[in-house]
Amino acid sequence: MTDRTAPAAHAIAPMLAARWSPRSYEDRAVPDAALAQVLEAARWAASCINEQPWNFLVARKAKEPEAHARLLACLSVNNQGWAVRAPVLMLGVARTAFASNGNANRHAGYDLGQATANLAAQAAALGLQAHQMAGFDAAKAREAFAIPEGFDPMTAITLGYPGPASALPEALAAREAAPRARKPIGEFTHLGAWGALGSPA
Ligand SMILES: Cc1cc2nc3c(=O)[nH]c(=O)nc-3n(C[C@H](O)[C@H](O)[C@H](O)COP(=O)(O)O)c2cc1C
Repeated sequence: MTDRTAPAAHAIAPMLAARWSPRSYEDRAVPDAALAQVLEAARWAASCINEQPWNFLVARKAKEPEAHARLLACLSVNNQGWAVRAPVLMLGVARTAFASNGNANRHAGYDLGQATANLAAQAAALGLQAHQMAGFDAAKAREAFAIPEGFDPMTAITLGYPGPASALPEALAAREAAPRARKPIGEFTHLGAWGALGSPA
């Protein structure tokens, strides 16, 4: 299995360091108990006034093959090329208004993102990996799954056990082997004043 552990500059929780976005997946189903664990992790995310606006449409290749194919068909052609091997496809959908008063929830996408981050970290802790995708046709997904107005399909997600990069076409295999890179803390942390960029340590 490809080791893509983050070369963190400061120690971080192991599951966060272990998380990455693979394109190669083993031909091996995700046990339902593990799938429930990653959704449970999503469940415990924080959200604005505990609205929990996230929804995950889940298509298991082994159990919902028709839904898996339908969701796959909503992905961009590039994403379809590798996501076809993922044993689980998901669609992250945000409820866009607060249930209590119908007002627009401008943090719905933020909260769906937090739940998905939890899901991805929990997946990594279990030896699984998730890969989020903006490259999908949201209108097509809405139609394909009869998602009502007021719910916004925001991300597609693959989930499975990461496989060898060698199973991918050359161009994708190279991306899988590229060094993992991030901006340093000091490029996004403003200490006490906007523009006072720096790292606390
Ligand atoms: C909202 C979002 C959309 C993304 N869309 C795509 C996508 O359409 N196709 C793809 O191959 N990767 C996609 N990615 C994966 C990112 O490219 C990846 O997270 C980033 O390069 C960092 O790599 P890492 O997740 O392995 O740390 C997306 C990630 C996020 C969070």
